Amino acid sequence: MARTYAERGEDVGLLARRLDRLEALRAELTACPKAGAVEVGRLDVTDFDAVPVAIADIAERLGGLDRAIINAGIGKGASVGTGNARANIETVQTNLTGALAQAEAVLEIFRAQGHGHLVLVSSIAGERGHPGAGTAYAASKAGLSALGQGMQAEFPNGPIKITVIKPGYIETAITDGLKTPLMVPLDQGVKAIVKAIDRAPREAAVPPWPWAPIGAVLRHAPDEVTRRLI
Ligand SMILES: NC(=O)c1ccc[n+]([C@@H]2O[C@H](COP(=O)([O-])OP(=O)(O)OC[C@H]3O[C@@H](n4cnc5c(N)ncnc54)[C@H](OP(=O)(O)O)[C@@H]3O)[C@@H](O)[C@H]2O)c1
Repeated sequence: MARTYAERGEDVGLLARRLDRLEALRAELTACPKAGAVEVGRLDVTDFDAVPVAIADIAERLGGLDRAIINAGIGKGASVGTGNARANIETVQTNLTGALAQAEAVLEIFRAQGHGHLVLVSSIAGERGHPGAGTAYAASKAGLSALGQGMQAEFPNGPIKITVIKPGYIETAITDGLKTPLMVPLDQGVKAIVKAIDRAPREAAVPPWPWAPIGAVLRHAPDEVTRRLI
């Protein structure tokens, strides 16, 4: 996504834990003929006190913030009560509490300036509770989608927009080793996400086919049906 935005000439700010990777990406992005400003910074989104500081800092370095994409997420986990509480808690702290900390910081900026587009990268997994290794992950994403819905209710037509993106399976580190015919390559997934973000809808399943209908089935079908899907 950062490559796409930089190629379009948009200013880009990137925050994550592995600063060396962000710096390598910055060197690549600034070499794009149309590249604007590219700013990077180290942030662990589970360091809740550091989140507003890092976001305010990068917004200042960029000279403002029109859109924020809350994307950091992990997929660790195990069946609840099997001695892996740490992994489940870390997943919820990163995907949900960390996202809330980021949303707090971003919306403070958006409220002050009176506009902005906040994007939450949730998941189709949030449409239904998952068993086993997916329980904490699905719960974190259900919470994230609900967080987006709640903020949308506050800004129904306003200049502040909230978009909840619900990806299906896209080839990245998080899906490494997962074999499913529904997996799409990274470039296809990125194109679908960027296209959806450009429209700024309230929510979007990406890619829309087959994930919009699968999402509807997960939300509404009885357990006997959804059990075969998750
Ligand atoms: N790929 C899929 O099929 C799929 C499907 C549905 C939803 N999603 C969601 O899409 C988002 C992006 O995931 P991905 O597929 O691109 O996986 P990924 O390649 O593993 O990327 C995860 C990103 O999150 C960052 N991150 C993780 N923990 C962090 C923390 N504590 N603080 C700051 N940054 C952190 C990582 O950077 P550092 O490690 O350097 O911090 C990395 O850039 C996630 O929210 C994921 O749940 C993905």
